[in-house]
Amino acid sequence: MKPSYLTTKIFLDSGNPLETKQALTDLGFLDGQTTNPSLVAKNPRIVELKNAGSLSEDSIWSQYKLVAEEIRNIIPHGSISVEVFSDLETPHEEMINRGKDLAGWFPGIFVKLPTTHEGLVAARALSSEGINVNMTLCFSQEQAAAVHSATVGAAGQVYVSPFIGRLDDIGFHGIDLIKNILLMYRNWNSHVQVLGASIRSLDHLFGCINAGCDIITIPMSIVELWKAQGLNNDPAQHEFAISDNKPIPYRDISEGDWVLYDIHHELTNKGIEKFVADWKGLFAK
Ligand code: E4P
Repeated sequence: MKPSYLTTKIFLDSGNPLETKQALTDLGFLDGQTTNPSLVAKNPRIVELKNAGSLSEDSIWSQYKLVAEEIRNIIPHGSISVEVFSDLETPHEEMINRGKDLAGWFPGIFVKLPTTHEGLVAARALSSEGINVNMTLCFSQEQAAAVHSATVGAAGQVYVSPFIGRLDDIGFHGIDLIKNILLMYRNWNSHVQVLGASIRSLDHLFGCINAGCDIITIPMSIVELWKAQGLNNDPAQHEFAISDNKPIPYRDISEGDWVLYDIHHELTNKGIEKFVADWKGLFAK
């Protein structure tokens, strides 16, 4: 049963359906699940196939589909995100074709795309056709502004996933980005839902809940920590550790044409490179 204070949706961040079952048992509810190439590459069955040398660039996709279907069987009404394979050179046409393939796995699935120029062109096309999209590897308010503006009028649902932990890793106060995007979107009456990702601590989880984040995706380690400290404890009473990370100031950005925003972020590129390396590692000889 979901605690009564909790209006935020809680997803599991994992490529392993066994963890989906466990999280559902531990929390008593689960609103969805996010996967990414690095997480799916850690799935025990996929690791076994890799070790047996029986994975190829084509067969890995049927394995990914099986994983997504197993998750859906456990949480049939949950929102499930699967990621389009893309590297820094992938053109939007390929992302659109791959996104359509993923969207065909089952109704309601969310297609994850990188928050880059090509990813946004693809998101605009897919979401206008009614496909749900989740814009991943978001590290700046400008990128979130572009997600909003590129998908105005979308027929599908749109998520943006700001990565808190990876901003903390480079000395910033990642939660500030969530607060800034939520404020900007409220001012714009945005259709985009904010999905707090890269959650590494209860401070991140409760910071997102207290900020009014629409959705948060948490790894199994955080499910366990949360359960251990009591799911019904009010996050408003949580004592946050004092952080000396740099604050991220709010930027008063005007709503406008998405191509005019400066959406480059080094961490987005690094994130794409890491996903590609983990994915290709599965069928490297
Ligand atoms: C979820 O959609 C993200 O891919 C995930 O939260 C990233 O987390 P990490 O920064 O711990 O890899």
